[in-house]
Amino acid sequence: MLTGQITNAPHIPRGSAFLDSRDMVSNPISVMEKYRARLGHTFTFHFGGAVSALVSTHPDFIRHILRENYQNYQKSYIQVERIAEFEGHGLLNSHGEKWLSKRRYLQQGFRRSRMMAMMPIMQQALSESMKRFEEERRENDVIDVHKQMVFFTLRLVGKSLLGNSMKEEELELVGETISIIQKFMVRQIVQPYKIPWFRISGQTARYQRMRQAADHFIREHIASRRKYPLEESDLLQLLLSQPFKDTGETLDDEQILIECLQLLVAGNETSSNALAWTFYLLCRHPWAAEKIRAEIAEVLGKEEPNFKNLHQLSYTMQVFDETMRLYPPFWMVDRIAMGDDEAMGIHIPKGTMVVSYLYGLHRNTDYWDDPEVFNPDRFTKERKKARNPFAHIPFGGGPRICIGNSMAIVQMLLILVALVRDYRFELVPDEPVAIRPMMILRPDGPMKMRFWRI
Ligand code: HEM
Repeated sequence: MLTGQITNAPHIPRGSAFLDSRDMVSNPISVMEKYRARLGHTFTFHFGGAVSALVSTHPDFIRHILRENYQNYQKSYIQVERIAEFEGHGLLNSHGEKWLSKRRYLQQGFRRSRMMAMMPIMQQALSESMKRFEEERRENDVIDVHKQMVFFTLRLVGKSLLGNSMKEEELELVGETISIIQKFMVRQIVQPYKIPWFRISGQTARYQRMRQAADHFIREHIASRRKYPLEESDLLQLLLSQPFKDTGETLDDEQILIECLQLLVAGNETSSNALAWTFYLLCRHPWAAEKIRAEIAEVLGKEEPNFKNLHQLSYTMQVFDETMRLYPPFWMVDRIAMGDDEAMGIHIPKGTMVVSYLYGLHRNTDYWDDPEVFNPDRFTKERKKARNPFAHIPFGGGPRICIGNSMAIVQMLLILVALVRDYRFELVPDEPVAIRPMMILRPDGPMKMRFWRI
C-alpha cells in the first residue's frame, strides 16, 4: 500500500495516533471527533500509527475530491480487493472506463419510469412485511426495530432487484449470509494484518463456502427466469433483456449475479439502518412522529401510497434528511489519490488516503447551528437552497453518487408511512442508543421498541 506524507495540514503526532489505534478499531468516530475538535475541519493522522490519512469535514474540500477532480481519486485498494473476494468485480468496486460503462448501463434500472413500474412489486413486498411484522408484534411485547428494518428492506430491495417470485426463505438466507460476510469484511479492513491468519486458519474459505451457498439460490433464480421469462419490471428483467452497450450482448449469468449481489449489499444495510435511526429519533421526539402522522392524513387521506403522493410528503422527507444528517449510513467515504493534487491550499501527495468524513461534515458548525439537536426544519426548501449542497451528502456526491438514492427514498417512505399510520411506538427503555460505526453506522446493540395498533 502507498503511504503519502502530508505536509501542510494540521496533524496528530504518530505516537498519539498509535495510542488511539485500539479505540480506532472499536469506535473510529469517537477518535475522529476528538481529532476534529482539536484540529478543525481538515487534518491528517496515521491509521494505527501506520497509514497516513487526510480527513476532511469541509464541503468545498469534499466537493473537490468527489466531484471536481474525482478522476484522481479511486476507492482504496483494501476496499476494492475485500469486496472482490466475496462479491466479484461489479459497479461498486470498478474504476475508469469499466465503471462508467457499467454505471450507464445500470442507471437505466433506476430511472423514474422504472421506479414507477416497480411500485406494485414494492407494495406487495411491503404488505408481506407488514403481515410478518404484526405477527412478530403479537408474539413479543418488545421488538428489535433494527432487526425488523433489515427484514423490511431485504424484501423491498431484494424483490425490486430479483422479482416477487424470489422465495422468502431464500431471500432471508441470502440476507443473513450477506450480513455475516459483511462483518468478516469489516474485520479484514480494520485489521488487515490478520488477513494471512484468516486464510491459514480456514476462516476465509469457510465464508467463501457460505457465499457459494447463497449464490446458488440467486443463480437458480436467474436460470429459471431465463427459461421462463416473466413480464416483470424488476432490475433482473432489465439485466436479462437489455444488451450491454460495450459488447452489444446481454450480460452472462455470472455478471448478473455479481451486479445483483452488489446492489443487494449496497441497498439493504444502508436503508435498514437509516430507518432504524429514524424510528429511534421519532421515539425521542414524539412531536415529529405526530407531525408525520398529520401530514400523512392530509396528503394521503385514505389513499394507498403511490409514487406521486409519496413525493408530496415533504415534512416526512425532512425527517429523513435530518436523520441521515445525524446518522449518515456511510459515515465516511474513502479514496486514494492516484496523483499529486491540491485542494483549499492543502497539498495531497500521490498515495494519500483521503477520507470525506460525513459524520463530521454533517456536524460542521460553520454550516449547522447546534449540530447535535434534532431539527427537521433545517431541511425546508428555502433553507436547503441557501446551504452549500455539499454540506449534507448522505448519498455521497459527484459521479459516484449513490445509484439507488431514489429507490431508497421511495422504499423508506413506503415503510415509514405504513408503520406510522398503523402504530404508535416507544423506545424501551427510553434512553440514548449508542452508535457502532462498522462499514455502515449501526446502533450498538438491539434497538428495542414497543408498538401498539392505532
Ligand atoms: C439510505 C439508503 C442509502 C444510502 C445512505 C446510500 C449511500 C451511498 C453512498 C454515500 C454512496 C457513495 C459511496 C462512495 O462514493 O464511495 C453509495 C453508492 C452506491 N449505492 Fe447507495 N445508499 C443507499 C441505498 C442504496 C440502494 C437502495 C441501492 C441499490 C439498490 C444502492 C446502491 C449503491 C451503489 C451500487 C453504489 C455505488 C455507485 C458507484 O460506485 O457508481 N444504495 N450509496
